[in-house]
Amino acid sequence: MVVTIDGPAGAGKSSAARELARRLGFRFLDTGSMYRAVTLAALERGVDLTDTAALEGVAEEVEISLDDDRVLLDGRDVTKAIRTLEITTATRYAADCPRVRAQLVDHQRRLADGVDVVTEGRDQSTVVFPDAECKIFLTASEEVRAERRFIDLVQRGEHVTRTDVLEKQRVRDQGDSTRAVGKLYKAEDAIEVSTDGLSREEVVDRLLEIVEERR
Ligand code: C5P
Repeated sequence: MVVTIDGPAGAGKSSAARELARRLGFRFLDTGSMYRAVTLAALERGVDLTDTAALEGVAEEVEISLDDDRVLLDGRDVTKAIRTLEITTATRYAADCPRVRAQLVDHQRRLADGVDVVTEGRDQSTVVFPDAECKIFLTASEEVRAERRFIDLVQRGEHVTRTDVLEKQRVRDQGDSTRAVGKLYKAEDAIEVSTDGLSREEVVDRLLEIVEERR
């Protein structure tokens, strides 16, 4: 069974999807981490992120493994390194590049081949797994999402302001919903769930209910 969860930044997708996968005993795919890992690899190699051919070369060269809680880049644990504000902001170049997307989409389909998965991102219901048995569009208001992201970054030791986080989130939302390939939108057959005012536990319970109805 394939369960896809798409939605904007900060809707609480990652933590809810990971917990949902754990409760179901399914594999979990955090596809945003792949775009982040390609970006980190490109920056480490001194690649100009606007050079799409070079970026594509990096995506081809590197090996990205998702090991439940950890993200490995050529065998190195980059779980923390890909979550900085710098990488978050720079990831749009890899996400905007159709050939990088094509490679990562292939990789995502291979990882889901023959196993039950919960997969989370922007284009999982629409591009990567259009035939998924269960599609969820997880969202929340702009303010709630920015506040979550702010708390998350402060806990990671980043020096940020609420205004800055909200501003960057708006830029990211705009980019995510307008890119030529793989843009974020709710699939016609996806169930929309707003996480406003819900605890993480309540979100996971709601998602479990939706999955169970389709099993
Ligand atoms: O979900 P996360 O914030 O980690 O994703 C990082 C970035 O990767 C997003 O801003 C988005 O632009 C991009 N992304 C994407 N397609 C996906 C997952 C993430 O374009 N399936």
